[in-house]
Amino acid sequence: MEGRPLRGPTYSGVWSPDAIEAIQEKAELGRYQIRGQATKRRDLPSFDDLVFVPAGLSRMPLEGYRERCDTRIVIGEGRVKRPLVLDRPIMIAGMSFGALSVNAKRALGRAATKCGISTCTGDGGMHPEERKNSAKLVYQYLPSRYGLTPYDMRKADMIEVVCGQGAKPGTGGVLLGTKVSAEVARMRDLPEGVDQRTPSRHPDWMGADDLPVKIQQIREAVDYEIPVSVKVGASRIADDIKLIARAGVDAIVFDGMEGGTAASPTIQLDHAGIPTIAAIAEAAESLRDMGLKEDIKLIVGGGIRDGADAAKCIALGADVVYIGTAALIALGCHRPIHVEDYHRLGTTPYECQHCHTGLCPVGITTQYPKLIERLDPDEGAERVANFLNAMTMEIQLFARACGKNRVHDLDGNDMKALTIEASMMTGVPMVGLNGRVPKWRTY
Ligand SMILES: Cc1cc2nc3c(=O)[nH]c(=O)nc-3n(C[C@H](O)[C@H](O)[C@H](O)COP(=O)(O)O)c2cc1C
Ligand code: SF4
Repeated sequence: MEGRPLRGPTYSGVWSPDAIEAIQEKAELGRYQIRGQATKRRDLPSFDDLVFVPAGLSRMPLEGYRERCDTRIVIGEGRVKRPLVLDRPIMIAGMSFGALSVNAKRALGRAATKCGISTCTGDGGMHPEERKNSAKLVYQYLPSRYGLTPYDMRKADMIEVVCGQGAKPGTGGVLLGTKVSAEVARMRDLPEGVDQRTPSRHPDWMGADDLPVKIQQIREAVDYEIPVSVKVGASRIADDIKLIARAGVDAIVFDGMEGGTAASPTIQLDHAGIPTIAAIAEAAESLRDMGLKEDIKLIVGGGIRDGADAAKCIALGADVVYIGTAALIALGCHRPIHVEDYHRLGTTPYECQHCHTGLCPVGITTQYPKLIERLDPDEGAERVANFLNAMTMEIQLFARACGKNRVHDLDGNDMKALTIEASMMTGVPMVGLNGRVPKWRTY
């Protein structure tokens, strides 16, 4: 009624401001919305739904300053000539040159090298600066085949065959023309400045039966020197894991629906795939069913923010965590500098998900020379290395608190679930009586 004061929000739960804005934007653009970073959903089960139950008297904790807690993990040990040795159970996830600037690639490579872990090319080929700055570099073999050469495969330290990723399982990718600079175009053999789509599946595979043949071809191409992994987005994860394991890989990589991206359809980010905690439990169980849990390493990503999330992944069955967005945030994503440029994009630090536009205010997801210069690769490398060190100490903190001298000895018995949903999804028991009837109940 006119003149009536509004008390509190009167928005509809169905026709919320976000829903209305999305319809109006689609009405103007005539296409679906695209954005970077990740889903904005707040109602997903998360790592916060699990807590550690550290040692008390029933088990003795380890002394942080005196007692060792090993973090090393080897991929392909006893299977290939040059296994991939990681000093910590963390890898920098595949993020393409094209999505990322060359300075971001340099910084991530230097940080990973300082910390004895690997980084990954992502789509679009191996940039020479990335190879130079990364002591351990994983090379992606994608449906797009952009920049793929057998020469670069032999320069890599592991091959990751990509069949999907958590932010967009079942669909291909998109790189808007603003990011297809002359150098990106040359590496991908594409016209400069033109929007570029990547396919959703490998052009020469008809189905899962072709995977073992492909893995064998790759092993021959790299002369059985380095490990081979397959990456999928977590959706039909239990079956996918079995099909990949049967193909004879050294590691399986997946990220849940919280996984990061440089550009994905918004609707896909919010409505496809399954959450990371649910996916880890299913994936680890599939490998156990096949008796392959020890042989094939599980590399898990999707919304991992710190050592607590990483330690929970390991306790659920992951061998290594795979971080994309957290590494970019350590590098300076969302930093409140050049704030006027965030505003020009219609956003602010902490909210920005404009990686797809190529106008990243902090020089990470851009190909414009003036923006790239804003990111100093040495300073960026130091920030990421500091973050990786802190994250490693946090993982060790939980392992020691649970009385374990190897972080990989953490398991589901070291945790409890705070919500019934998280408990059902992961098999981790609920806090409290876990459904048992207490003795004071007399009926
Ligand atoms: C900027 C950016 C670019 C990415 N590019 C690729 C890519 O080229 N290939 C790929 O398989 N995944 C790509 N990803 C997904 C990551 O490899 C990884 O699966 C994901 O970031 C993990 O989730 P997190 O960001 O929450 O850590 C990209 C992610 C980001 C944030
Ligand atoms: S600051 Fe850059 S990297 Fe971070 S979300 Fe915005 S555009 Fe993407």
